[in-house]
Amino acid sequence: MSSNYRLLVKNAKQVVLICNNGEKYLTKNGMQNLCVIENGSIVIGSDGLIKAVGPADTIKTQYSEASFDEVIDAAGMCVVPGLVDAHTHPVWAGDRVHEFAMKLAGATYMDVHRAGGGIHFTVEHTRAAPTSQLLVSLTNRLARMQRAGTTTVECKSGYGLELQTEIKMLEVIEAARRTLPINISSTYCGAHAVPKGKTAAEATEDVLKVQLPRLRQLMSAGTLRVDNIDVFCEKGVFDLGCTRSILQAGRDMGLNINFHGDELHPMNSAQLGAELGALAISHLEEVTDEGIAAMAAAKTAAVLLPTTAYILRLPQPRARDMLEAGVIVALGSDFNPNAYCCSMPMVMHLACVNMRMSMPEALAAATINAAYALGRSHTHGSLEVNKHGDLLVLNTSRWEHLIYQLGGHQELIRYVVIKGNIV
Ligand code: NIG
Ligand code: FE
Repeated sequence: MSSNYRLLVKNAKQVVLICNNGEKYLTKNGMQNLCVIENGSIVIGSDGLIKAVGPADTIKTQYSEASFDEVIDAAGMCVVPGLVDAHTHPVWAGDRVHEFAMKLAGATYMDVHRAGGGIHFTVEHTRAAPTSQLLVSLTNRLARMQRAGTTTVECKSGYGLELQTEIKMLEVIEAARRTLPINISSTYCGAHAVPKGKTAAEATEDVLKVQLPRLRQLMSAGTLRVDNIDVFCEKGVFDLGCTRSILQAGRDMGLNINFHGDELHPMNSAQLGAELGALAISHLEEVTDEGIAAMAAAKTAAVLLPTTAYILRLPQPRARDMLEAGVIVALGSDFNPNAYCCSMPMVMHLACVNMRMSMPEALAAATINAAYALGRSHTHGSLEVNKHGDLLVLNTSRWEHLIYQLGGHQELIRYVVIKGNIV
């Protein structure tokens, strides 16, 4: 009796597996030599997992088309894994287009922040916004990301900076996680800025004594699922001591450490993250050689965010130095009111042009390594048997068009598939 399968993608000109030996991450050599099958097919089962991937001729002899709910004829097209966006701030109200004008006129990120704008502006609007409004805007933003090829996304809180709004944001993320097809990794970032009227020590105390205990209750009641803990470790925001105590407390609750570090000033955030066993650190524009070495040794992923460096005209993250040193390099869009970018193809393009990554390196960084940064690379990030059937079918005979083309990817991305469903 033939079993029933959800989706067959057949006869693709190229299928970019990324890796095929069960690797959980790739470093430089692996990133430069992605596994690509010419004329390949993929079988996704009714459980949404990949059952087979290989040469189209072989798959054809093993599976009858009649046993599939859906068949995509990908002749002349390419298949790549769904993209993984390892860093976003997608829950907020009130955009900051007016600040973009200030920054174009020369204001720095911290000038705007100190003048009460930046994160503070977004906090005011997000505190005032009803849950329903935040959920609608989050849903729209995630839909945009999905249309641009993102199938797994990390989503942070961090525009509440007090218990009620932080929980409201996490609940909105949870509602999206339960109802939308896109995979979500949820991050508590209550220490994203020091709230107005408080010192960093007082804010840290509030996170440790008020916010985290409530979060722990909601998590054990099953009301909320939270995967990661984040802190903005930066001069004038949270110093190393505050960052350490918050990250340790989160780790003790079972959260993965995944935080902002060494962005505007060298803070030794990388060394701290490596010491604490962080899964990932984001930004790292100002990381030192010692920090790079510590991250490579600890297998702490570097989540590089080319949009931020581009918009704020910061020094570029040292992608090449990190790759040479054996760091696990991942990418994220950093979608937030400062860096309004929903597009991982655009992020990969910037990573190649500005950070001098090659196209295979950028694709690996936006798939398997970004999945690693979220603790999901055993199930996501490459096209391997038993992983989730998350993939993109590209209307091009060479996969590199996903990075080469600058914007307008709706035409190029013919299908987005999550767990075997065309979404
Ligand atoms: O990753 N650097 C801190 N956090 C965000 C920006 C958040 C904001 O400006 O609203 C970032 O770029
Ligand atoms: Fe960020």
